Amino acid sequence: MSDLASLAAEASACTRCSLAESRTQVVFGMGNPDADLVLVGEGPGAEEDRQGLPFVGRSGQLLDRLVREEMGLTREHCYVMNAVKCRPPGNRDPRPDELAACRPWFDAQLAAIRPRVVVTLGNVATRAVLGTTEGITRLRGRTFPLDDAVVIPTFHPAAVLRGGGQAMAQMRADLVRAKLALAGAPTA
Ligand code: URA
Ligand code: SF4
Repeated sequence: MSDLASLAAEASACTRCSLAESRTQVVFGMGNPDADLVLVGEGPGAEEDRQGLPFVGRSGQLLDRLVREEMGLTREHCYVMNAVKCRPPGNRDPRPDELAACRPWFDAQLAAIRPRVVVTLGNVATRAVLGTTEGITRLRGRTFPLDDAVVIPTFHPAAVLRGGGQAMAQMRADLVRAKLALAGAPTA
C-alpha cells in the first residue's frame, strides 16, 4: 500500500475528536497521490458524508469547473481534501479543537503527496492551514510558504455561489496564480 492509502485506512477509524460520533464515514481525500496541486476545503457536507468523497455536491461542481477552465486540470491531476475529515453536524463550522485534532492527518497527507501548490478554499481552511486569524478577503491575492509548497488562499466555492460575479472573478484570478506557481513562475 502507498503511504497515502495506508494513512487513509488508518484514518478511517479515527476518533481523535467528537466529530467521529456523528459522521457516517471519514472523508479522507481523493485524487492523485503524486499531485503537484492540493485543494483544501473546510469539511465534508451531507453529500460528502454519504459518499465518502470530498466536494461532490454543488460546491464541488463549481470547483471542478473553475479548476478545469483556469488551470486545465481535472481531479485526476490534483488531490482534494478538507481541513476536517468528518462532517460537522448541521454543516456548522468546525471548531478550533476539531481542526487541531485533525491537523496531523493533513500534515501526513502533505508529507506523502509533497505538492508544490496548496490552494485553500475559504476562511476556515485558510486560517487552519496558515495558523492565522486574518480573513480570506485580506489573505487572498497573496502566497505563503508551507514546507516546500506555496499556499494560495482563495474563496470557498460556496461563497462564490452566493457572492456572484466579483467573487467568481477573484477566484478565477487566484487559480491563474496557482497555475503560474505550478509552472514555476515567481508568485510574490
Ligand atoms: N465544502 C467543503 O468545504 N468541503 C467539501 O468537501 C464539500 C463542501
Ligand atoms: Fe479524526 Fe479528523 Fe474525524 Fe476528528 S475530524 S474524528 S480528528 S478524522
